[in-house]
Amino acid sequence: MIDERVKLIAITWVPTNGGLRNPAAAVGAIARRHGIVFLLDACQAVGQMPTRVDELGCDILTATGRKFPRGPRGTGFLYIRRDLMLTMEPLMIDHFAAPWVAPDRYELRADARRFETWENNYAARLGLGRAIDYALQLGLDDIEAHCSILSARLREGLRVLPGIVVHDLGRSPVSIVSFSIEKRDATSAKAELSQLGYNVSVSAPSSTLLDATARHLPAVVRASPHYYNTEDEIDSFVRAVAALCRK
Ligand SMILES: Cc1ncc(COP(=O)(O)O)c(C=O)c1O
Repeated sequence: MIDERVKLIAITWVPTNGGLRNPAAAVGAIARRHGIVFLLDACQAVGQMPTRVDELGCDILTATGRKFPRGPRGTGFLYIRRDLMLTMEPLMIDHFAAPWVAPDRYELRADARRFETWENNYAARLGLGRAIDYALQLGLDDIEAHCSILSARLREGLRVLPGIVVHDLGRSPVSIVSFSIEKRDATSAKAELSQLGYNVSVSAPSSTLLDATARHLPAVVRASPHYYNTEDEIDSFVRAVAALCRK
């Protein structure tokens, strides 16, 4: 599809549900080859797998703190390749992003702080920094390896249960396991699992409307095993879901 009209390639590395891991580095190689700006939404990827912008070949990467990095809500970060950043004027600027240097003139900062604002939540930022240090100390390669063992075990456990449909896609799915329970709606299943001490979330079709429409997805239950989970916990979770199916 690449031709002279393409100015930007923007993809989601890992969608909000469905377990898919898009081949971001392969897309980045195409973008590089054609000199097209590549924007990568790494929101669900950062914190569960190594994220190296040089290997991904992306010019812009966005991520949130509250998901797999386990940072505070309301935090996130943006990476932009320096030379591209210098050509971009943010949609909104204040006197932090662009110091007011003469009565009729402001100057955008020459670094990524042009995308920041004067006012911000310092406590949340410190929390984000701590969360990132913590993940780096554990090691993103090790985190990814552990998460893939757990998520594969979970998918295998769920797939054999009668009345469960696992909705995940892709050859090497990530640690987001999405499933539905026949005859049970996702919200009540989540509430019952929560009472048993299992934290899952519900992802409604409106969160991924294109995929949900194309695949006729209901609201799905989403379980995201992380580095602090154990194989025993996965097995007991599968038993709890099996019990829900029998109810
Ligand atoms: C793939 C993806 N991108 C972006 C977002 C938005 O994240 P935020 O609300 O932190 O901007 C989400 C949130 O679920 C997401 O799953």
